[in-house]
Amino acid sequence: MGASDIDWGEIERWDRSYYLHNVQAQSEYAFTGVERADGNYLVLAGGARLLDFQSQLISDSMGHRHPRVHAEIARAMERYGHVFFGMATDYRARAAKLVLEDVLGAPASWAGRIRILASGTEGVEVAMAMARLFTGRPVILTQVASYHGLVPGATQLRGYRGNITPDDRRDAVLDVPGVAGSNVVTVPQPEFFDDLRDPLPSLLETERIILATGPENIAAIITETMFGAGGLLPPDRYNRGLVELARRHGILWIADEVLTGFGRLGEWFGYETVPGGLTPDLMVVGKGINGCALPVGGVVTNVEIGEWFDRARWWSGSTHDAHPLVCASIVGNIEAMLEADMVARVRTRGVELGRRLAELAARHPSIGRSSGRGFYWAVDLVGADRQPIVAEDRATGFLGDLSATPNNVVAAECAKRGVFLGGFVPNTIKVAPPFTVTDAEIEVGLAAFDAALDEVDRRWHA
Ligand SMILES: Cc1ncc(COP(=O)(O)O)c(C=O)c1O
Repeated sequence: MGASDIDWGEIERWDRSYYLHNVQAQSEYAFTGVERADGNYLVLAGGARLLDFQSQLISDSMGHRHPRVHAEIARAMERYGHVFFGMATDYRARAAKLVLEDVLGAPASWAGRIRILASGTEGVEVAMAMARLFTGRPVILTQVASYHGLVPGATQLRGYRGNITPDDRRDAVLDVPGVAGSNVVTVPQPEFFDDLRDPLPSLLETERIILATGPENIAAIITETMFGAGGLLPPDRYNRGLVELARRHGILWIADEVLTGFGRLGEWFGYETVPGGLTPDLMVVGKGINGCALPVGGVVTNVEIGEWFDRARWWSGSTHDAHPLVCASIVGNIEAMLEADMVARVRTRGVELGRRLAELAARHPSIGRSSGRGFYWAVDLVGADRQPIVAEDRATGFLGDLSATPNNVVAAECAKRGVFLGGFVPNTIKVAPPFTVTDAEIEVGLAAFDAALDEVDRRWHA
């Protein structure tokens, strides 16, 4: 069936009748039919084109259906459907070699082994289990306002949790029962990148919590070097101080690079932006490893942990581990990134993007702060009192009329102008174009954002 044969009325009816949607209640669900995804654009039912200035969920790094990735998946499909993890495929070995040798510099680097999984969330779950098994300790530390996934294990790790506001309790935000489970201890969220206090109060409090918990009970701390879903860039010295704190107390560092990894911040990984050359013990990857051409996640271990698990008979795995087509998409994606020197492009163009956002901030009173690196910038919107417009800010439970929150006002105004841009945190806009965005498309995206900010200024600064 060709795209022109699709009966979108019927599709909407089936979608509304049978699919269990995320995030929105059925009564407020906005049906947005996408007919195709092409390069840096989404083509909607009816033919309208949207420039994807947010890379979907800051995930589709190389645009949609990148030719190299697409071709590699097509080639793999000539020989493979599914092959289970007990057997080897050339694509699994090539994907592992590309990540470990070509990107991470093994064998002369910290990185030892990779396990390829089906989602970033699964990577988080597996990394937590690995840290606990390796250390023999139960506790994982997690930062307020961070995000690591929405299933019950991963969603214990604070930030926005998997929760529900049921139809008959519209004033309530209910956690998954038992979710604030045992053996996950929350430490404060970092200060913003422009906080000049020294020492940082968050680090003092984190050390107090470590001592109160007992370092001998703590397996690992899981961190985001730039908070992805939360849209928060900490000071460099926070990230460095936090890792040094973990090292001092013998606690493993799990760097969750699902969103920041594979070039998003203008380096291959976010940990490279932390001064001091610190490297993680375990690194969770996902999204950008294949630009989300197929569902993917993974864990990279350091050499010592990799060898420890290698010597063990570790009863672990999923039917979908290292699926050949997923591994082919990783091969195509990383080879394309290396050939185009994509990370360098993101680094240099990212500086320019940050400068342009600073110009917008100078013109629009509704911008309180714009922070980021590479191709991920978080733009925080404030009211006339310079405070977040929606008071819950990053602690939001997603209450009230969501269509009137600043992020959704911006999203609606940008969509009118052919640009997909917004985010979930109510006061924070996530400017995160694909690495393949052209300079002219950056202008289009920024012009739409500029016009959307006029509307935010009008509503909250009149
Ligand atoms: C930092 C981080 N960790 C984990 C996840 C979960 O990954 P996935 O959505 O692939 O399950 C995400 C997703 O946005 C993320 O940003």
